[in-house]
Amino acid sequence: MARVRDRVFVSTELPGDALDRLRAAHEVTVGARIGDAAFDAGASEWRAIVALLTDRIDAALLARAPRLRVVANVAVGVDNVDLDACRARGVVVTNTPGVLTEATADFAFALLLAAARRVAEGDRLVRRGEFHGWSLGMLLGAPVHGTTLGIVGLGRIGQAVARRARGFGMHVLYTQRTRLAESLERALGATFVDVDALFAESDAVTLHCPLTPATRHLVSAERLARMKPTALLVNTARGACVDEAALAAALASDRLGGAALDVFEDEPRIHPALVACERVVLAPHIASADRPTREAMARIAADNVLAILSDQPAITPV
Ligand code: GLV
Repeated sequence: MARVRDRVFVSTELPGDALDRLRAAHEVTVGARIGDAAFDAGASEWRAIVALLTDRIDAALLARAPRLRVVANVAVGVDNVDLDACRARGVVVTNTPGVLTEATADFAFALLLAAARRVAEGDRLVRRGEFHGWSLGMLLGAPVHGTTLGIVGLGRIGQAVARRARGFGMHVLYTQRTRLAESLERALGATFVDVDALFAESDAVTLHCPLTPATRHLVSAERLARMKPTALLVNTARGACVDEAALAAALASDRLGGAALDVFEDEPRIHPALVACERVVLAPHIASADRPTREAMARIAADNVLAILSDQPAITPV
């Protein structure tokens, strides 16, 4: 007997073979985003949606898609999805852990190095035609090797950052709700401290926590005030983990060395004072954006849909 082909809504074109995998088994509609006209046109039929972190999946949207069985988010973070509302409707939520760990850690390190060694400022200077030859005092930055790195959230990505930090001879502090096993701490060379000590003692702080009510504005005016005036803040987690206005104020009054940000509170809007600040490195939310990683993220999302629609357990349920 031929299998039932279900209706699947995909928020946008996906890289790699993810759409082909879905189309081989189901009827796929590719929209411009969840909730657009194409979504509404078939809403009563969607059995699965493949969502991006820019799509808000809330109770109102779920009510428009009463036959939905799965939301496959093409991201590891799921703060764009109302998990309680999905649970209440029996909708499975999946994400893409694991495949983006190393790419994201690479990028966090790229941002750290860029901020410390003023790479983006140097690039702008050269393009402005202001490089008139080598000079002993030009663009003096902060050292990375041998300094103290504070990691907020020593999960998969935080641990991958800690491994890189060891290669740079850094002293690694970490904080999170639950302390890791001592053997893992030893293997990573990471020392557990409370969150305030981490902000006070680190030369750079890098965020690798999910956005939850507990981590919203974790980097507050008070925490920024605890940081060394030369310290750097790196954020590849979620923008709202940082109080952007407080960060802008700390930078404007030279109470912080600099920042490197891949994520923002209200993307794609960025606080104008951060855009204006030379000591901030800005990136357009691309930490996981190497090609194989993005293809693997899309493939996992597709495979989660295929699993659920053939009554198999999700591969990576949230
Ligand atoms: C990217 O930001 C992700 O959560 O995967």
